[in-house]
Amino acid sequence: TFSSKPLWASPCPHGPPAFAFDIDGVLVRGKHVLPWALEAMKKLTTPGGQWRYPVVFMTNGGGVTEGRKAEQLSNWLGVPVAPEQVILAHTPMRDLVPELAQRPVLVSGRGDVLQVARSYGFQRVLHTRELAAALPTAAPFAKYPLQAAGTERGSSTPAVASAAPDASDTAGTAPFASPARAGAAPAPATHGSAAHPCPVRDLGLATEAAPIDTILVMTDPDDWYRDSQLLYDVLTGAGVPTRSPASAAAAGAPPVKLIFSNPDLLWANEFPRSRFGQGAFAHMLLSIYSRLTAGARPHHVTYYGKPNPQPYRLAERLLLSQAQQLGLHLPQVAPGELPFSGIYAVGDNPAADVRGANQAGGPWVSVLVRTGVFQGPGPNCDVDTARVAVDDVAAAVDAALHHTR
Ligand code: G3P
Ligand code: MG
Repeated sequence: TFSSKPLWASPCPHGPPAFAFDIDGVLVRGKHVLPWALEAMKKLTTPGGQWRYPVVFMTNGGGVTEGRKAEQLSNWLGVPVAPEQVILAHTPMRDLVPELAQRPVLVSGRGDVLQVARSYGFQRVLHTRELAAALPTAAPFAKYPLQAAGTERGSSTPAVASAAPDASDTAGTAPFASPARAGAAPAPATHGSAAHPCPVRDLGLATEAAPIDTILVMTDPDDWYRDSQLLYDVLTGAGVPTRSPASAAAAGAPPVKLIFSNPDLLWANEFPRSRFGQGAFAHMLLSIYSRLTAGARPHHVTYYGKPNPQPYRLAERLLLSQAQQLGLHLPQVAPGELPFSGIYAVGDNPAADVRGANQAGGPWVSVLVRTGVFQGPGPNCDVDTARVAVDDVAAAVDAALHHTR
């Protein structure tokens, strides 16, 4: 089903097409690889498994390294995916490393975000889970790590790790797996208990001397209560969770920067209706902040992730370098232009994928599918209208290849 819009004018009609695939709601839903994803990949690779065109996988999920996600995608899709083809919501946060490598950074989010942050080069990172363990009375209802693993989410949490996907925000274990099971939880014995809390400085951050100055929300937090409480404390205590707002103001402490990796309100797993994403957490936190500070907003709030420009600019660089490595014929273009007939951004979420591609300009072509967040009515979204609207990712690839022939 094509939208009523006519064919687009290709910015560089003799160039090859390139592709940027969203993951959740396009290639997978929860634990299931969608059949159209396998079909689409076949159309883009040779029988020997070589890519015919440049391809990136660009998701607002994360919680694993780009290398690990590439391995997962290779297994799920049966094609060789390299780490250089993967853009996770937090991948553009690498750009902050030159400024923040030595600074104390508080990290929030499920999955293996602490390891991911370290792999990027952030050297002084503290997870909200560790902060809660160090200050047990600060988030008294936080369920772990103070409780035994496996008791915190009740019996609804699937217990079995799976090689199949569950969501882009996982390390390949069950969704919302306990940190202990995922190997990421600090042991309570080394981080104190409710009776004997250990000071935050024991965690390697002398916070009074060098307060946290940046919060990175790298994936959807696993405990919204704990993280909304602790992030509010850090934001209003000017980076020192134990300091009162008044003393922070008196000390003239600089405001803390709050950076979210993903503004998605919704995303699609196998549940019939879309689920809350990190953007919903952000709204909740900022709403509480506003209510408690007479309508104020934290000084520095930034969102990475689609539809913001950072992942699109990174994708352009990666696609160009892939095209060169593949030895494709690339027409001469003016400086600042890209030699592609189109960069087809295939996504299911109009507010993220379609808006992002439409704003990215140049050769970007938004392609909306109906296998995830967008369910109609009608073939296209009225608010964020895609250049092409089709049923699924296999049809999206067909449309792109047809229009560039
Ligand atoms: O948590 C993941 C979600 O917000 C979006 O993932 O792959 O649809 O961009 P994706
Ligand atoms: Mg999606």
